[in-house]
Amino acid sequence: MAELITELDWDFKEKIISDSIHGIHPYPAKFIPEIPFQLINYLGCDKNTSVLDPFCGSGTTLKVAQSLGLPCVGIDLNPIACLISKVKTTKIPPNFGTVFYDVVADAKSRKVDIDELESIPNINHWFKSDIQVNLLKLKKSIHDYLGHDTFDALCVAFSSIIVKASNQESDTRYAAINKNLVAEDVFRLFLVSCEKLNSSLLYNSSDFPCQIINKDVLAVQPSDINSTVGLVVTSPPYPNAYEYWLYHKYRMWWLGFDPKEIKEKEIGARAHFFKKNHHTERDFYHQMYGTLQLIDSVLITHGHAAFVVGRSIIHGKNVDNAGLIVEAAENLGFDVVERFNRTMNSNRKSFNLSYAKIKEETIVVLRKK
Ligand SMILES: C[S@@+](CC[C@H](N)C(=O)[O-])C[C@H]1O[C@@H](n2cnc3c(N)ncnc32)[C@H](O)[C@@H]1O
Repeated sequence: MAELITELDWDFKEKIISDSIHGIHPYPAKFIPEIPFQLINYLGCDKNTSVLDPFCGSGTTLKVAQSLGLPCVGIDLNPIACLISKVKTTKIPPNFGTVFYDVVADAKSRKVDIDELESIPNINHWFKSDIQVNLLKLKKSIHDYLGHDTFDALCVAFSSIIVKASNQESDTRYAAINKNLVAEDVFRLFLVSCEKLNSSLLYNSSDFPCQIINKDVLAVQPSDINSTVGLVVTSPPYPNAYEYWLYHKYRMWWLGFDPKEIKEKEIGARAHFFKKNHHTERDFYHQMYGTLQLIDSVLITHGHAAFVVGRSIIHGKNVDNAGLIVEAAENLGFDVVERFNRTMNSNRKSFNLSYAKIKEETIVVLRKK
């Protein structure tokens, strides 16, 4: 480590890494790939060990680790996160380019009954009925590929068009508006998404294994992780800030998952802060303590763990999330190697946390003794 970590440029005003693969599906608060790239390069990871991201989201850390010739392990509670991560870190099957045209042709000739969508709350508010019909046709045609190596990629493409095909104004605006969509747009959007996926993943050199664990991190056992971990790079969910379950709510309903179960276990979800006996910053401390206990049991001696975290406002009070992570880490016996801030560039943020007015985030580097 020649240069000090704090002497490196962490603001990344300009794009250094082409990110078409990171753009195959929308995801809130995702890393710009330069952050895990620089952390992995600087902190290093032994070739015989894996990079772990216990809150892997859309798999940015995992993909970057693979591109640097390292195996990786990702954990996330959200099934959409795990689906995207899995597809990003797996070689696209060579026949994918023809399969998605077959899927659309098959879907067009199907007959479906949208009464079976009744269990999806407010479905008629968010989706026009002719759009529901074509989405259901597509879903059923994709389902025929269950067990095939193209299934996950088809599901990612399907998931990526749900908000576009709905009446929801945008990914981050939850108002129903008339977007003048016609039923045929469902197939058009799906084909565009599949083409994008196919071209982004065509040169995916994923020879390095990646294990994805779709679980609450606090329920993961060290024995669930199949490899030795040499480095951890992650950005945890911020308390009372972003809601991943809400962002992906209709994607989950359409793909057969229950968003209510995810909301219950999601760290930092706003709902936990506005109920009777609501969560406080101490809950976040305990959740990070639990996460660090897992890290402590799987990380090699002297291995590093880097956390990138913003601050929160909970009931009008500023909360120093990085400080809580440092406190939990020190109580578990980690060395706190470094703690510094980086400026978040407004045009390089994947989300807008206007209510928390976040302009900076903190990078905390820990080391296992
Ligand atoms: C800041 S995002 C990670 C984004 C990621 N770095 C990327 O580039 O896409 C935090 C992630 O934590 C996940 N999460 C929230 N609560 C969790 C829990 N209890 N266990 C595991 N993951 C959880 C969310 O689903 C979300 O994907």
